[in-house]
Amino acid sequence: MTAKLELKRLAKAFPRGSEPPLEVVRDFTLEIRNLEFLSVIGPSGCGKSTLLRLIDGLILADSGRILMDGRDVTGVVGGEGRGMVFQSFDLFPWRTTRGNVEFGLEVAGAGKAERRERAEHYIRLVGLEGFEDAYPHELSGGMQQRVGFARALAIRPEILLMDEPFGALDVQTRDILQDELLNIWSTEQKTVLFVTHSIEEAIYLADRIVVISPRPARVERIIEVPFDRPRHERIKSLPEFLQLRQEIWSLLKEGVKI
Ligand SMILES: Nc1ncnc2c1ncn2[C@@H]1O[C@H](COP(=O)(O)OP(=O)(O)O)[C@@H](O)[C@H]1O
Ligand SMILES: [Mg+2]
Repeated sequence: MTAKLELKRLAKAFPRGSEPPLEVVRDFTLEIRNLEFLSVIGPSGCGKSTLLRLIDGLILADSGRILMDGRDVTGVVGGEGRGMVFQSFDLFPWRTTRGNVEFGLEVAGAGKAERRERAEHYIRLVGLEGFEDAYPHELSGGMQQRVGFARALAIRPEILLMDEPFGALDVQTRDILQDELLNIWSTEQKTVLFVTHSIEEAIYLADRIVVISPRPARVERIIEVPFDRPRHERIKSLPEFLQLRQEIWSLLKEGVKI
């Protein structure tokens, strides 16, 4: 079966004036299966966000290829079929919930009626009914992240790229949103690439976990997560869960030189 997304020997370095370029992604090769939930974990600064931005077409790789359903999409700017949810609540402060969710549809050239209808659908899906006309500053962190999520879903991407979306939230909100994300993922039929620095979150959500090396980012290890779905909080205290957490922790610790 063709992979949903194939990353083939991707490389990216950033120029640094007179110094040699900063090598951030090196020889990065990975196959992402159709409809899988893949967590990506790695030390801070290792190149995870850069990797997502490469996949989304926001920046261009120096070398390597990106294939989606076997089609070459390397260098296709705009991320057709790919939707991004960022860590911080990067909402437009001057737009309401509805305005933010409609944004991607406007860019895509959707008509007004279609925009309205789709925005309403996804606003309901993320549980923000009644907050359509609220501005970001009137919403809690968790609610703002729901808006970001609805905005990404509204363009109906086949692949959802999520960059530490719950990183700035309190633990309770985070737990709730994790379960909601899993619900939405199971009904909306998406392939998800979820970057996190929480080992527990990576395991709880994913089918597989990719552990990334310190910069320059390469695939250090791919781990299959052995737990059934639907997932439930209680798996977090199972011995298998704790063992897996320890294993990933050791991998991350090995790579980090303090
Ligand atoms: N546009 C850029 N120009 C120069 N350096 C960058 C740029 N984007 C990221 N970097 C550098 O690349 C490294 C990896 O960054 P990033 O991908 O954000 O890591 P992570 O998301 O894993 O924390 C960091 O050292 C960062 O400073
Ligand atoms: Mg990052």
